[in-house]
Amino acid sequence: MAEAQNDREAREAKEDEMRLSEAEIAVHWKEEEYFHPTPKFIGQANLTDPAVLERFSEKNFPECYREYADLLTWDKYWTTTLDSSNAPFWKWFVGGKLNVSYNCIDRHLDKHANKAAILWVSEAEDDPVVALTFQELYVQVNEMAALLRDFCGLKTGDRVTIHMPMVPELPVTMLACARLGIIHSVVFGGFSGEACGARIVDSGSRVLITMDGYYRSGKVIDHKASADIAVKKAAEEGQKVDKVLIWRRFRDRAASSTPMVEGRDYVVNEELKRYAGHRIAPVSMPAEAPFFLMYTSGSTGKPKGVQHSTGGYLAYVTGASKFIQDIHTTDVYWCMADIGWITGHSFIVYGPLALAATTVMYEGVPTFPDAGRPWRIAQRLGVNIFHTSPTAIRMLRKLGPDEPKKYDLHFKCMTTVGEPIEPEAWLWYYHTVGRGKAAITDTWWLTETGGFLCSTKPAIDPMKPGSTGPPMPGIYPVIYDEHGKEIPPGSNRAGNICIRNPWPGLMQTIWGDNERFVRQYYGKYNKNKNSTDWHDWPWLAGDGALWAKDGYVRILGRIDDVINVAGHRLGTKELESACLTVPEIAEAAVVPIVDAERGRVPEVYVSLKPGVKADPEIMARVTRAIETNIGKIARPRMVRIVPDMPKTRSGKIMRRVLASISNSMDYGDITTLSNPEVVEQIRVQVQGAGPVRKKEGPEDIKRFGETT
Ligand code: PRX
Repeated sequence: MAEAQNDREAREAKEDEMRLSEAEIAVHWKEEEYFHPTPKFIGQANLTDPAVLERFSEKNFPECYREYADLLTWDKYWTTTLDSSNAPFWKWFVGGKLNVSYNCIDRHLDKHANKAAILWVSEAEDDPVVALTFQELYVQVNEMAALLRDFCGLKTGDRVTIHMPMVPELPVTMLACARLGIIHSVVFGGFSGEACGARIVDSGSRVLITMDGYYRSGKVIDHKASADIAVKKAAEEGQKVDKVLIWRRFRDRAASSTPMVEGRDYVVNEELKRYAGHRIAPVSMPAEAPFFLMYTSGSTGKPKGVQHSTGGYLAYVTGASKFIQDIHTTDVYWCMADIGWITGHSFIVYGPLALAATTVMYEGVPTFPDAGRPWRIAQRLGVNIFHTSPTAIRMLRKLGPDEPKKYDLHFKCMTTVGEPIEPEAWLWYYHTVGRGKAAITDTWWLTETGGFLCSTKPAIDPMKPGSTGPPMPGIYPVIYDEHGKEIPPGSNRAGNICIRNPWPGLMQTIWGDNERFVRQYYGKYNKNKNSTDWHDWPWLAGDGALWAKDGYVRILGRIDDVINVAGHRLGTKELESACLTVPEIAEAAVVPIVDAERGRVPEVYVSLKPGVKADPEIMARVTRAIETNIGKIARPRMVRIVPDMPKTRSGKIMRRVLASISNSMDYGDITTLSNPEVVEQIRVQVQGAGPVRKKEGPEDIKRFGETT
């Protein structure tokens, strides 16, 4: 009798689970308390007027974006703010003309010629800091532009691939391209030669610009070797590279022993001597001319070249830098991202320089030689705005939880970007790094969006750990369920977040693939493909999200990053967040394993804080934390304590690799990881010392955690 009762209860519980709509993602993070900016911060902030919301409300769209565009210097003012006639290929500030390098350099020379534009820190801690003033940046960019034009024969509209580490020569090269209207495609320096080659092919670049080497974790990497691989790969696929320009990392010696190829390879530092003192007039570009390409997620399928515009993009990142990053010309601003990602383009180079700020660049690994390094850099340079990712925050907290306390830090505001941040990590950032004084902005956006979509306005909105914040002024989101039905704010249900309107920072298209652009971002929710009314074109971001009553958005991760347990979609992030409530846990990664009954069940990987011993009791506590924070439905099949997580060079945990190991599947290419050796250790730990298992498995596991 009792058994029958239990059976029925179990069946009913299961039916309940099944009734949940596909688009629903379980949301169990509890609401966090608010934190308020200090009066001192508010007193100096760029954006304090709450009327901004009214100014950027829908009734003032699209003209509201004049406020951003007016931060720039235009050669010719535009006539049409938004042209929708060829939807969804929106055109912003049509009729307007401007030059990006002029806006980031020349126009500051009157007032700021001798102020540092870039402060560069070598990874070798004994090396002196390099300061490039705006005048010096002007000289170098002009000479490089002369070389690109007169030595390489490059002209407006040509594409150039740049594969460089974090050195000042990288923004110099980008700005030289911008001066001539050449479309740059910067490939993250940590990517392999093959990855670079594929991007050369797609963009049709005949010039590759690189550097011979750079420091990484105390070693000099032979980067020139990657250029040879890239050029070979490109040639195999039909794209000939006729010039490789190689910057020298060291003044007095080569950093690479890879031989030069006669007639193809040139040392930039040598060639530039011929252009000393040359000045190149900035080319006045139409606002809607393509400005640069940024390739995303090449690991699955063909990499896509996200194409950004000249005027719209620059206006949007300048506005976001001024109003959200709160950058003033007197600030020393450090974004610890790599310029090879969109964050670096928008918020190391273009936004800060358009505002004549001093932007800091650091060559190396944040934890080299120890976890105090970023704080020493910030103290020495007097950094007052700091910008990094949850991954870096977790890593610095793991390796040096008390390090920030040893230094004299004065951040007025700090940013986090790239993933949802667990409240635990947020609180450490706030209290230990920011001393409870810095306003934190958790900025949600994508490569495709140019700049922020959601964030608190730091002097106006209180902060809420784990939530990105309200939509940016002029951004009107909507959350849809799988069938296109709106999920209203405050309903405590999650779905697919879209932005209803175009905005100036939005990508123009996928380079060379308009059809894929329309399909990927508009295919799901557009109802009338002939419409020229923007209201018919909600833009699909690809993230699951929840919109709370207070108007704050919480991002749950990529739509393809959820674990579907018996029809119940669990956000990976919130499971991981639950794991981090166990104090011994430093990092957690949750992956799905195939289960005949429940579809998928979670399996948990955790790494421990330094000095903590692996102990079955900790594993049990992780399981309990998940059960209490989320529920029994999320109970992991297994908790595994591992020495470290497999990570990309940018520090993201490769959940795909862990998911493949858990499911005895082929884990594929791991050459781009920063620590490939840890993969084999984990594999042996999970599967035993036998041969590598290569079972075929389902697509969602093969691609788990990777954006499309
Ligand atoms: O899932 C979201 C996550 O990062 C994705 C975009 O990645 P990418 O194009 O590489 O650009 C990263 C830097 C803009 C998004 O789809 N993401 C980004 N910022 C946040 C975030 N998730 C939660 N909170 C954020 N602040």
